[in-house]
Amino acid sequence: MDSEDTTKTCDTKAVEFVPVKIEEHDFSKMDIKPRTLTVVDRHKSCEIRALYDLFGAHAPPHLSSIQDSLKNLDHLKIAENLESVPPSRMSSPKASTTSQIQAEAWEALRQALIYFRGRPLGTIAAMDHSEELLNYNQVFVRDFFPSALAFLMNREPEVVKNFLMKTLRLQSWEKRIDRFQLGAGVMPASFKVLHDTRRNTETLIADFGESAIGRVAPVDSGFWWIILLRAYTRSTGDSSLADTPECQKGIRLILTLCLSEGFDTFPTLLCADGCCMIDRRMGIYGYPIEIQALFFMALKCALTLLKQDDKGKELLELITKRLQALSYHIRTYFWLDFSQLNDIYRYKTEEYSHTAVNKFNVMPDSLPDWVFDFMPNPGGYFIGNVSPSRMDFRWFCLGNCIAILSSLATPDQSDAIMDLLEARWEELVGEMPLKACYPALETHEWRIITGCDPKNTRWSYHNGGSWPVLLWLLTAASIKTGRPHIAKRAIDLAETRLPKDSWPEYYDGKLGRYVGKQARKFQTWSVAGYLVAKMMLDDPSLLGIVALEEDRQMRPTLTRSSSWS
Ligand code: GLC
Repeated sequence: MDSEDTTKTCDTKAVEFVPVKIEEHDFSKMDIKPRTLTVVDRHKSCEIRALYDLFGAHAPPHLSSIQDSLKNLDHLKIAENLESVPPSRMSSPKASTTSQIQAEAWEALRQALIYFRGRPLGTIAAMDHSEELLNYNQVFVRDFFPSALAFLMNREPEVVKNFLMKTLRLQSWEKRIDRFQLGAGVMPASFKVLHDTRRNTETLIADFGESAIGRVAPVDSGFWWIILLRAYTRSTGDSSLADTPECQKGIRLILTLCLSEGFDTFPTLLCADGCCMIDRRMGIYGYPIEIQALFFMALKCALTLLKQDDKGKELLELITKRLQALSYHIRTYFWLDFSQLNDIYRYKTEEYSHTAVNKFNVMPDSLPDWVFDFMPNPGGYFIGNVSPSRMDFRWFCLGNCIAILSSLATPDQSDAIMDLLEARWEELVGEMPLKACYPALETHEWRIITGCDPKNTRWSYHNGGSWPVLLWLLTAASIKTGRPHIAKRAIDLAETRLPKDSWPEYYDGKLGRYVGKQARKFQTWSVAGYLVAKMMLDDPSLLGIVALEEDRQMRPTLTRSSSWS
């Protein structure tokens, strides 16, 4: 049966629209249509203007120095070059503004498009026909995100709209693993279009974790979906899609899953291992930073998307409360810098009652040796996981970059994360941006923590492998913190290898020098991640599509080097 026929009808009751109040300095409300930018000061590059627009009165202190660093970028265009005709649908960007590599990348991205009943619906994970397909011929929700950004930034929103609507339909399916029924809000990890050439029909088939290796539901999918809906609304200026009862219900269902009351003592979200980009056992069970940062960002996006009607109002209150608790918890307990590390090193254990300094009873002996050398001063990052007697000190790229983009990290913390990246460039970037996590698990630890996973051996795949897709996140974080030179350096590196190596999924080795052992070629998010990075560096105002401003109400009372208490 056609999957569409199995979907439940959504609530179509008309609802009153009361816009959510957004703070004045909300840079996400700026005009982000690059091609209509006018030149106020012809001596300033449009990038500088866009950055000033972006931050307004809240410009980072070092923003003025960006002008100098940007002057050195040889490919910079002045605003006149951007005032071009909008590209025709499904055509490549103007040749004059597109390098050879970009043109090749656009072609690869378009080849990855799949169609459902004649309309583009998403991009498949990889176009590598030399390897066993497994599920790489599917559209993954998380993988589609950078593709979607590329299309939005290139003013081609149609595929994104189709994707958002169809995945909503999939959400309303009844989801089961054996005899167990999953929550109504769960979004699929991936889906594919099944063509029945004999009957001339097309059907969607989705995977909510019931076919995935390890049978884990993707906690991140729903968050990516909400963040994408906000990006779509932001870049097209069209809120009619988000305002539909179907989308409103979709957001409510996703967040109801996460905001329901239970036995939690922390505002973070308890997860199974492998429930996000790292989709295999890697010791990230508990409260992984990737999920917590995405959770925070999705909650913030939902604040701007949800209507204040009867159904939305209650949820909006819950979201506001949770955001405050979540940001406090993560900014305080997940944060590690030199002084915090020193405090943990000297912790007393077995403390009881409200006066405890070492609240989670972390044993100083559990501090790994590497972290003492790794920690620069200045510099810091959100660690991988915090739970009773357990701090996972590994550095994870996605969570830290999303923390910057969503303003979960305070401005000081964002700066410190970038300080660390610069100070530990060889370890985290090396020859190919960017390590998904650092350092790798080896020998005994690898055996115990991954369960002897032959795909996640040391410095490979999720276990210290380098993922080109992360380039867009690094670029966005670099621009947001006023350090585009970091992005430029990383993109330059990526360009020396990616096209030559046919856009691999990941690289292996301490320096990311080798094409990954089992890496797919023409991995779509490697292609899209590069394109998005390139477009944002060319026109930093595009950052407004994905980045969120800092919320004054959530400003922390603690500074980054304050200790626990
Ligand atoms: C790998 C990645 C996962 C990605 C999938 C498809 O399993 O770990 O994050 O979604 O490939 O590219």
